[in-house]
Amino acid sequence: MFEVYDTKAEVARALSGHLDRWSAEEGFRSIALSGGSTPQVWFDLLADEYQYRLPWPEFLLFWGDERCVPPEDSQSNYGMTRKHLLDKVPVEPSHIYRIRGENPPAEEARRYSRVLHDMLPQVHGIPQFDLVILGMGDDGHTASIFPHEMDLWGSDSFCEVATHPESGQKRISLTGQIINNAKQVVFLVTGANKAAPLAEIRNRSLGSTQFPAAHVAPTGGRLIWLVDREAASLAPH
Ligand code: 6PG
Repeated sequence: MFEVYDTKAEVARALSGHLDRWSAEEGFRSIALSGGSTPQVWFDLLADEYQYRLPWPEFLLFWGDERCVPPEDSQSNYGMTRKHLLDKVPVEPSHIYRIRGENPPAEEARRYSRVLHDMLPQVHGIPQFDLVILGMGDDGHTASIFPHEMDLWGSDSFCEVATHPESGQKRISLTGQIINNAKQVVFLVTGANKAAPLAEIRNRSLGSTQFPAAHVAPTGGRLIWLVDREAASLAPH
């Protein structure tokens, strides 16, 4: 499914509506959140308008990727989520499974893989999230799997240590097997800088396999793209 909205705020509104329905009708509880600018708008909307409308204490919250920085660092995906959402809604603190960006990266990737193994049901021998939220960078990266490290996508582990191509910052990221094992995956893609890679992915152009985002194809088939008009401007829909 490919849904186009005028603005980032409308993309966020659409995702809120989907989550409301999936949690009520399908019992979705385990969610892998993403970093980035669109989730920030979404978190603000959830905190303002969905504070009492979602089963917050029942949600199990995880992250699809994290920057290897302490939680109070402005780069921390967990820190951003705490500020914009977790401090404002009645989530159960013991249900927040953050990636500890302050830990040595390789050790933390192993620890978080075990957390996923222990806390999620296994389907096809792989932990299964109800919902994975992803963003896409203008280089076609998703979670923290970048084009120069495509091999990490196919890793046998559930989590890997990645390196940002420009800053060299270490990241911890879910890998392809666990992302594609989710019941439902949502891509949030906004901004004109995403238009070209998005068009290539949607057209399945020959070159599109270089983009990690092009490899997102949940085995259960449930993938929704929530896209703003700018990002969708070159894509067929
Ligand atoms: C991160 C991410 C990353 C992000 C994309 C899109 O931690 O940086 O999880 O994959 O989702 O870079 O980010 P924007 O929504 O800001 O464009």
